[in-house]
Amino acid sequence: MKIFSLIAMIVLLLGSMPRTASCQKKESALIPAPVSLFYQKGSFSFSDKTRILVSPLNNETRLSADLLALLVKNPSGYQIPVSDGKKQFAGSVLMILDESVKNPEGYNLTVTSKGITIRAKTAVGLFYAVQTIRQLLPVEVEKPLLAKGVQLSVPTCIIVDEPRFAYRGMHLDVGRHLFPVASIKRYIDMLALHKMNTFHWHLTEDQGWRIEIKKYPKLTQIGAYRKETVAGLMKRANNTFDGKPYGGFYTQDEVRDIVKYAGSRFITIIPEIEMPGHGIAALTSYPELSCTGGPFEVRKLWGVEDDVFCAGNEQVFTFLQDVLTEVMEMFPSKYIHIGGDECPKKRWEKCPKCQKRMKDEGLKNEMELQSYFIRRIEKFVSSKGRNIIGWDEILEGGLAPGATVMSWRGEEGGIEAAKSGHDVVMTPGKYTYFCYYQCEKHDDQPLALGGYVPLELVYGYNPISKVLSAEEQKHILGLQGCLWTEIIPTPEILEYMAYPRTFAIAETGWTPENQKNFENFLARLKVLDKRYDAIGINYFKGEYRDTKIKKEDEK
Ligand code: ACM
Ligand code: ZN
Repeated sequence: MKIFSLIAMIVLLLGSMPRTASCQKKESALIPAPVSLFYQKGSFSFSDKTRILVSPLNNETRLSADLLALLVKNPSGYQIPVSDGKKQFAGSVLMILDESVKNPEGYNLTVTSKGITIRAKTAVGLFYAVQTIRQLLPVEVEKPLLAKGVQLSVPTCIIVDEPRFAYRGMHLDVGRHLFPVASIKRYIDMLALHKMNTFHWHLTEDQGWRIEIKKYPKLTQIGAYRKETVAGLMKRANNTFDGKPYGGFYTQDEVRDIVKYAGSRFITIIPEIEMPGHGIAALTSYPELSCTGGPFEVRKLWGVEDDVFCAGNEQVFTFLQDVLTEVMEMFPSKYIHIGGDECPKKRWEKCPKCQKRMKDEGLKNEMELQSYFIRRIEKFVSSKGRNIIGWDEILEGGLAPGATVMSWRGEEGGIEAAKSGHDVVMTPGKYTYFCYYQCEKHDDQPLALGGYVPLELVYGYNPISKVLSAEEQKHILGLQGCLWTEIIPTPEILEYMAYPRTFAIAETGWTPENQKNFENFLARLKVLDKRYDAIGINYFKGEYRDTKIKKEDEK
């Protein structure tokens, strides 16, 4: 082969090769970075002539088309029509369901100067393609205001994209502090913008029961309120209580509205009802469900409560099954989170009913009693066609069949579960708990729990442990960031603690590990900051760009 034809071939090959995640245009940036992205010269501009054609057009596919039409309408006022069809003509956006796209959440996006074509296996892929287009459009699309003269252009490009993990989640504790419905919806919006698909809603705690249960009204009449605001919050004022009652809850109508809102953004909400521990708000409402009979008080301080649901009392199982029945009516999710963490055994050791249960069931110790408890609940939940998920303590005393484990005390629980054939979501606190500080010097920061989880540490976390075989690795469904709200009293601080660390979780959940690059992520974040400003979220803007993490030993 002549040397020039060899060079020509290399140039051609390089030119046609999809570029990796590190590629970005100055004015636009994508988080999470797509699997392959190849920018070409030029752009496509939306105009009043643009049409969106969808094939087939149905309730699910229409969501993405309507969203794109709305984004364009915000700054321009253009009323872009959406109709059924797949015939490309100049100026059209085509959205086509195509079986040849392998991943149910994946999509192929081609932007030319003449139009846009999206192919996806399901409506979910179409939705993620629209999130990509959204991040490529000018920030004005984020504001419900006319901004005449703004060029609504998307750079011409070819993107082939799909997620690395099936589970890409964020958690929110509304037990310690609750947040308005509007704030929960903003949280869901941020997940959707970054192609996350799960919102884990931690609804019950020692410090407050937050979901209306029709059969047990005292849960919210009594259990949703504590006598003092927050002891921890007052730390800077010498740990004094402020004497103001605190509380509230979400009605079933509000819950259904939020579930629907999330569903229209292809986000599944996993509800969490804590048991056997973290239940003093429920026990204050119904003290007969405890080992001692109470009385109790909804907890004002943080920490772990000794009084837990009695494992020897049949009424407890009737109560929890009734609660879960109402919860399952509100939440269509495959998974129901049953908590399972931090359950002291002190009361069970002294309780005649718990001890009788152990004797009757041949249980050797209280760990096995906990396992008995979770197994019974698992049996009930699976009889309704759902699966339980629980914090890694549910491994103690033997894991219930069909249970999925959320590994929070480290990766060990998740590794053990995966090795025994159970599915796992990785949430090790050291990397994924956003209740901890995000910068080293934090005198000027909102009060946080004592740990240090800066952005680079979150970004660098790989949920696939090397100690797992290829077969075992398949049990790692993905990862999740967690927001415990002991010291997060307002929606503004909630956003400050959540972002941008949530976006690092989103990228790890989506982008192939070998295409991740922290410096490049930071550069894209800098571009996207303008979008976050336009949306009006209160994200952390501190020293993360300079923070260097001491690298840990390779796992
Ligand atoms: C937990 O952080 N107690 C799950
Ligand atoms: Zn008991």
